[in-house]
This record gives sequence, C-alpha cells and structure tokens, in this order.
Amino acid sequence: MLWEGALLPAEVTNNTRRRALVTGAAGGLGREVALQLAARGCAVAITDINAQGVQETAALLRERTGDVEAIVGDFTIEGAPEAAVEKVVARWGGIDILVNNAGYGVIEPFLDATFKAWTRTLALNVTALAMACKAAGRVMREQRSGRIVNITSPGSRMALPDYTAYTASKAGVDSITRAAAVALAPYGVLVNSLAPGMMDTEMQRSTEIDLARAAGRNDLQAFLDERTRRIPLGRRAEISEVAEAVVWLCLDSPAYMTAERLNMSGGLDKD
Ligand SMILES: NC(=O)c1ccc[n+]([C@@H]2O[C@H](COP(=O)([O-])OP(=O)(O)OC[C@H]3O[C@@H](n4cnc5c(N)ncnc54)[C@H](O)[C@@H]3O)[C@@H](O)[C@H]2O)c1
Repeated sequence: MLWEGALLPAEVTNNTRRRALVTGAAGGLGREVALQLAARGCAVAITDINAQGVQETAALLRERTGDVEAIVGDFTIEGAPEAAVEKVVARWGGIDILVNNAGYGVIEPFLDATFKAWTRTLALNVTALAMACKAAGRVMREQRSGRIVNITSPGSRMALPDYTAYTASKAGVDSITRAAAVALAPYGVLVNSLAPGMMDTEMQRSTEIDLARAAGRNDLQAFLDERTRRIPLGRRAEISEVAEAVVWLCLDSPAYMTAERLNMSGGLDKD
C-alpha cells in the first residue's frame, strides 16, 4: 500500500494533503523539517517557545504554502501538547504527521546535578513528548492512519557524565517510541525515531561551548575539530540532510516500518 503522502507536490489535492505539526520549529532542525514538509505539499503547524523564531519560520512557510498555523508557547506547561494538537485538528480536521523535535539540554557534571536542570530537561524531552504522542495518537487512531517521528540522539546510548539529564531523557524518547509504536500499530499508525549526528545548530553550539568549559579546554576550535574527527564520515551533518531523513519517515518510508530508530549520525551510532 502506498501512503498518499508519497505524492509529488503537484499531485497533492485537498483530499490527499498531509497535515503536520512540528515542535521546536523556531530554528535548527525543526524549521528545516517544517520547510521541507511544506515543499512536499503538507499543511504545516509549528510550535516553539521562541516567539521571534516562530514568526520567522511562519513567514518562510507562507512563501511556500498559504496554510500555516503558528503556535507560540512553552510545551512543558500542562496541557500545552494536547492544546497544540487540538489547534491542528480544529484548523484542518485531523493530523497526519507529528514531529516531536523540541529539545532541551544543559551541560552539568553528574556530581553537581541540579533538580532544576533535570526537571526542565525531562519535562520537555520526555513528558511533553509523551503527551504529544498521546494526543496525536488518539486522533490518528480514529483516522486509522498517521505517522509520528520522535527526535532522539546518539547520546541516548552513551555514558556522558556531563550531560546525563539529556542522555537519560533521550533514552526516554527511545522507550516512548517503542511503546507508542506498539500501542498504535493496530490502527495503522507508525511511530519511529531518528537520531541526528552533530549538526551545527544553536543548541549544539552552546552545548559544545559548555562542554569545552567543563573539560577545562580553552582551545574551542581544536576541541570541536577533535569531536568532528571522531565521526566515521569525518564531517558534521548538514541540517538539510537530517531533515530529509525525517521527511522520509513522515511521508515515504514503507508502511511496515514502525518502532524503528534511524541513525543519521555519519556512523557515530552503529546499531
Ligand atoms: N544539533 C545536534 O547536533 C543534535 C544532535 C542530536 C539530537 N538533536 C536533537 O534535535 C532536536 C532539534 O535540536 P536543534 O539542534 O535543531 O536545536 P534548536 O535549539 O535549534 O531546537 C530546539 C528547539 O526547541 C525549542 N524549545 C526549547 N524548550 C522549549 C519549550 N519548553 N517549549 C517549546 N519549545 C522549546 C527551542 O526554542 C528550539 O527552537 C532536539 O530534540 C535535539 O535534542 C540535535
């Protein structure tokens, strides 16, 4: 069976157009995924805590499609993920694609861990993501179709003592992906995750600056180069190529593929 999202933009009609929600789309990977989905003919809703970034992404989307829903807010507030899904359904009558991309992380040595950092990290990366999967999953169950893609990290399977709240939260993403995939499989709804390698986004830049500081390294560029050399393909990921793989999971991957984790890390993550 061919998922109708595989249609080319010129073939998309009101009956076949996919309705998508991308979280954390004020910049970085989320913005690029939103733009690529719009280029493939999807109606796209975006959400982020960064109001200016949301406006910028929405303006870029409007150049590609008239159909944009922009939602500004903190996704960790109780009820926010459910409200975002409800907005999409109210606007377009359903939801076909959810990309859980919003993420937060802070460098903090394990023995200096703070309640604040752990709570904030888990509230977004785990709890809000699970609530968004639940809310979209309920609508997709009724529709008997839909696709959810959760953004995880190679870190979810690493021991990183300066970044444990984040890596633990991404291990949570992997766990939620497997559970949601099984819960929604009887309804033909697919749930997969994607682990990006190092992309030079805002989040990655500030994380690596803090990581260098925690490691007592003043030679930032040398530190970054060493990290890049550890990637088997020998370079960092382009945001656009990682987004292409997310869009593939949203629109083109085979209907038998669910509960899968796709590594887009240049060989860093090998299973
Ligand atoms: N950049 C990398 O190298 C890399 C590697 C592995 C995984 N990832 C994951 O990719 C995803 C996208 O990250 P990115 O690199 O594009 O960084 P980014 O900082 O551009 O994107 C994260 C977005 O989440 C938003 N956000 C943060 N807290 C929020 C909240 N409480 N409510 C709503 N939105 C909130 C931010 O405003 C930001 O726009 C994240 O899940 C990240 O963990 C990134």
